[in-house]
Amino acid sequence: MPELIEIKVDGTPVRVPAGASVASAILDSGTVTLRHSVSGEPRGAVCGMGVCFECRVTVNGVPHVRSCMTLCEPGMDIRTK
Ligand code: FES
Repeated sequence: MPELIEIKVDGTPVRVPAGASVASAILDSGTVTLRHSVSGEPRGAVCGMGVCFECRVTVNGVPHVRSCMTLCEPGMDIRTK
């Protein structure tokens, strides 16, 4: 059984398997919109391999982090808004 770690997604505690990507953790929390475009359109992960940049979120206060390319770490604070 994989080790579970706790992170926060938009302030809500979420337990995910160690080694999970931030994108998968966000989706697992029930959030499908990762950010909004400059025109206000909801955006989500498209390629899942670091190319499209549609999955950008704020991680520990750092904006524009590609969630599909970043692994969860205990205590990580992830913001989609
Ligand atoms: S989903 Fe395309 S860069 Fe993350």
